[in-house]
Amino acid sequence: MQNVLEQRCYQCHGAQLQMKNVRLDSPALIKQHAQSVYQQVVVTKLMPMNNATGITEAERLAVKQWFEAGAKTP
Ligand code: HEC
Repeated sequence: MQNVLEQRCYQCHGAQLQMKNVRLDSPALIKQHAQSVYQQVVVTKLMPMNNATGITEAERLAVKQWFEAGAKTP
């Protein structure tokens, strides 16, 4: 799961850039934003913005399953 975020989200929500004050580059931050990550990636599919980073349906499904299994972070 974290590798999906790393590939598809860090570019806009990482150390260099934190769009809308959302940073996802650590397990604690992922945990904190789990609900909105699920909302944006699985429900509304607004993120990644314009799918700039080319997320796949399989990766969206991985996010869905991660969230439904309790949004665990290492
Ligand atoms: C190309 C840049 C870009 C990428 C890539 C990107 N985002 Fe965003 N993200 C934004 C921008 C810009 C906003 C602010 C959007 C707004 O205010 O309408 C945002 C907002 C958000 C928000 C806050 C939404 C809210 O309204 O509360 C979340 C959560 C989020 N992104 C998660 C993600 C996740 C998860 C990914 C990867 C799957 C991702 N983003 C990839 C640019 C990006």
